[in-house]
Amino acid sequence: MRVLVTAGPTREALDPVRYLTNRSSGKMGYAMADAFARAGHAVLLVSGPTQLDIPEGVDFLPIETAEEMFDAVKRYIGKMDAAVFAAAVADYRPAVVSDQKIKKTGETLTLELVRTPDILGSVRGDFGFTGTLVGFAAETQNLQQNAREKLRKKGCDLVIANDVSKPGIGFDSDRNEVLLVFPEHVEALPEDEKHHLAPRLVREIERLAAERASN
Ligand code: C5P
Repeated sequence: MRVLVTAGPTREALDPVRYLTNRSSGKMGYAMADAFARAGHAVLLVSGPTQLDIPEGVDFLPIETAEEMFDAVKRYIGKMDAAVFAAAVADYRPAVVSDQKIKKTGETLTLELVRTPDILGSVRGDFGFTGTLVGFAAETQNLQQNAREKLRKKGCDLVIANDVSKPGIGFDSDRNEVLLVFPEHVEALPEDEKHHLAPRLVREIERLAAERASN
């Protein structure tokens, strides 16, 4: 298969020296890209800034902002058989990016933020993608319910959900404990190293893609 994987955080500039971002390390997305490549698939990894080594044998497209990730996905999704959205995309960005460093003046500073494009949410409708679509859901409450909502709204075949409030798993950790939310059923996987979980998740996605192809 040709597989697109998004990974890492995005970085939304505020002025020439500052940006808004989040705690995503990119580890889960990179582990997925690596596992797909090892299983013989052609991988395009669209990644925000991370400290990680690029997995061997994947095509790598670095981006910074949500807007840039949106443009990259829009451009390449038509060529893909499957897409896995593991990036932690900023939901808001500063409304204006100051040309000059913002100086400290008042005692408080109010930032206006505007919504960034919903990349996963654009894939089925706006981009007309008909391949296998997998989202991630990082939640701190109502894990299964929120994941199911995402699955339905965004037209995913699978949402991989994890509780980022649990110590030792999720953001920046080497370990994860995920719930696989499919349209008709749910499966909880035991906590494991992201590098062990990824090949398991790849096999699920291969199965979903085979099912889609036979329908
Ligand atoms: O941030 P949220 O939990 O809603 O993310 C759910 C899924 O949507 C993830 O797979 C994430 O990569 C994707 N997403 C996206 N574009 C956004 C926000 C989230 O593709 N602007």
